Amino acid sequence: MAEATKITTLDNGPFLVTGPVLLTDAAGQQFHSERETIALCRCGASTTKPFCDGTHGKIGFSAAERAVKESSGQA
Ligand code: FES
Repeated sequence: MAEATKITTLDNGPFLVTGPVLLTDAAGQQFHSERETIALCRCGASTTKPFCDGTHGKIGFSAAERAVKESSGQA
């Protein structure tokens, strides 16, 4: 059975992606990582986008604390 990819949001920090992933940017450039877990920038301030470089901590990035569940199809 293939290993599932897991994405975890850190409070006021990056997305942690664990497991197999092929990351492709809007220009089609692919990013490969030998690491088991990568951190993707969520604040937009990283100088190593799409990866987190820790800048979120210096700028006081504040994100939604928890995921919002979708309603059951009711508008
Ligand atoms: S989330 Fe870490 S630098 Fe943006």
